[in-house]
Amino acid sequence: GSHCKISDSSFIEVGASIGNDAKETYAGADVVLKVRGPMVEKEGTDELSLLDPKSILIGLLAPLQNSEAITSYAKSGITSFSMELLPRISRAQSMDVLSSQSNLAGYKAVVDAADTFGKAFPMMMTAAGTITPAKVLVLGAGVAGLQAIATARRLGAVVSAFDVRPAVKEQVESLGANFIEVDNSDNQNTETSGGYAKEMSEDYKKRQSELIHDTVKTQDVIITTALIPGKPAPQLIPEVMVQDMKAGSVIVDLAVEAGGNCPLSELDQVVVKHGVTLVGHSNMPARIPVDASALLSRNLVNFLTPMIDSDSGALSIDWDDEVISGTLTTRDGEVVHSMLKDKI
Ligand code: NAI
Repeated sequence: GSHCKISDSSFIEVGASIGNDAKETYAGADVVLKVRGPMVEKEGTDELSLLDPKSILIGLLAPLQNSEAITSYAKSGITSFSMELLPRISRAQSMDVLSSQSNLAGYKAVVDAADTFGKAFPMMMTAAGTITPAKVLVLGAGVAGLQAIATARRLGAVVSAFDVRPAVKEQVESLGANFIEVDNSDNQNTETSGGYAKEMSEDYKKRQSELIHDTVKTQDVIITTALIPGKPAPQLIPEVMVQDMKAGSVIVDLAVEAGGNCPLSELDQVVVKHGVTLVGHSNMPARIPVDASALLSRNLVNFLTPMIDSDSGALSIDWDDEVISGTLTTRDGEVVHSMLKDKI
């Protein structure tokens, strides 16, 4: 916990004990809460082998990207829950890890951009002259994108945003940003019933690309957040667009772990190409660790609490509950989630 300013003594004060190593820590655990899946360390410690086969694992297991790992969880016999698969229903909002972390990522992306950009964000009228406000474009206006818009506005930037889901227009405008609209007169369905984006037709992508190309030429900062669950991130800023951007501009690519919305961004690197700085930090929420940790742990507690009988303190899981069945990934030696069964 030292990275997020939580000392060993703080854990002990609230009744936790601290193991000397992974083996001691896992021993006897009925439930294991982790940020990501069990690690196979370089030195040869396989965390999965330390879990009791009867235990329950809850975390961000990246099931759509890590089918090999999910198969190994099934083989080990553990019951696992992937928080990414949580149904987006009202009752589950307080458990929604993707939302709590994306919100922080959107904020931090703008702070990183402001730190990297060699000019100020707000307009300043000084005796030495006027500084014009920075122009910020946000691509993808989901949870991360909306927070990026709000943060950039608070810093005084002039903000525009784009998303394939026209439903977000109102949200973007209510935050004081301009919504860039692609002609969708052929009425393509852009959204799944779960509220996520769909992959668009080639024709739509061409119209979108032309509009974005015209827009990027005038921007100082671009924050990209566009994701399609289980698919590579859509490439929204190809190299020709980067070439046409103003020298000194900044792109923060929050989709870098899913391949990037810009093919020039590099995982965990800050690089300068065609005079544009591309920021490609993975795991952006870890760059704001105190809040990320606090919100993640509250999400997990909210998920776990209904699984525990309040009188006896024993596990009592309602397997028919939509939240449980929606996240259940492996059980009784099998991969059980419908989204994964076909992939594995
Ligand atoms: P996400 O992280 O999967 O994607 C980010 C954004 O990228 C989305 O808004 C998506 O439409 C957009 N996108 C995808 N492809 C694009 C493209 N080619 N060009 C431009 N934009 C593109 O999505 P996120 O942030 O997790 O949220 C999706 C929706 O779910 C949002 O409307 C959010 O408000 C809603 N939601 C609902 C919750 C609930 O409990 N009811 C909880 C959390 C989110």
